[in-house]
Amino acid sequence: MPDHLRCDASASALPQPGSLTATRRRRRLLLGALGTLLTGTQALAASTLTAQQMQGPFYPVTLPLDQDNDLVQVAGRRGRAHGVITEVSGLVLDPAGQPIRGARVEIWQVNGFGRYHHPDDASPAPVDPLFQGFGRTLTDERGAYHFRTIRPVAYPGRAPHIHFAVTPAGGLPFHTQMYVAGEPANGGDVLLNAVVDRRQREALVVPLRPSATGNSRLAGRFDIVLGPASLQGGR
Ligand SMILES: [Fe+2]
Repeated sequence: MPDHLRCDASASALPQPGSLTATRRRRRLLLGALGTLLTGTQALAASTLTAQQMQGPFYPVTLPLDQDNDLVQVAGRRGRAHGVITEVSGLVLDPAGQPIRGARVEIWQVNGFGRYHHPDDASPAPVDPLFQGFGRTLTDERGAYHFRTIRPVAYPGRAPHIHFAVTPAGGLPFHTQMYVAGEPANGGDVLLNAVVDRRQREALVVPLRPSATGNSRLAGRFDIVLGPASLQGGR
């Protein structure tokens, strides 16, 4: 969780009223909480709307039986997907930086050999029956989501990427794609480089670092800031 969204639990433990010390302490706590809010506001004011990207032709025609947020383990099958197991998590936020709770987050990507779980993918790359190919989850109270998947791999014409569709409750689906920092193919990826605004383009490119959770080898954080058009209809 970013510092600007962290709550100071100590602020709720107000001291007994009456004593000067208690009053000072309370004032300090309140100022501390206010400082946290102001810091948050400043950070949030700098939020960059996430760039919209095309949905692409490979959103699943039929959803897999297992649709959870762990794409590397398919229910009822032994073993794990081919590829480097990677956790991707982040926050879904509105333009003011407030969390969007209960938003549906879906991802899909090619398997570790470079093939989509889709009948229209004519790639000669092998199928991986141990890779779910698609997953979905809901954001929690903090607007947070989490997936365990594989590090995306390149396929002809595209840099490694993960497709995202984010649908706030009562809102419209928003599509984007997450890329991997340091990938040489990023420089030639037509869709990534179609994002003209540099900050928006860079926000789609996520560093993947060694994971500290023990559930994966790599981990990355991809926050998604939705614009008003996606939020119409409420949350
Ligand atoms: Fe794709």
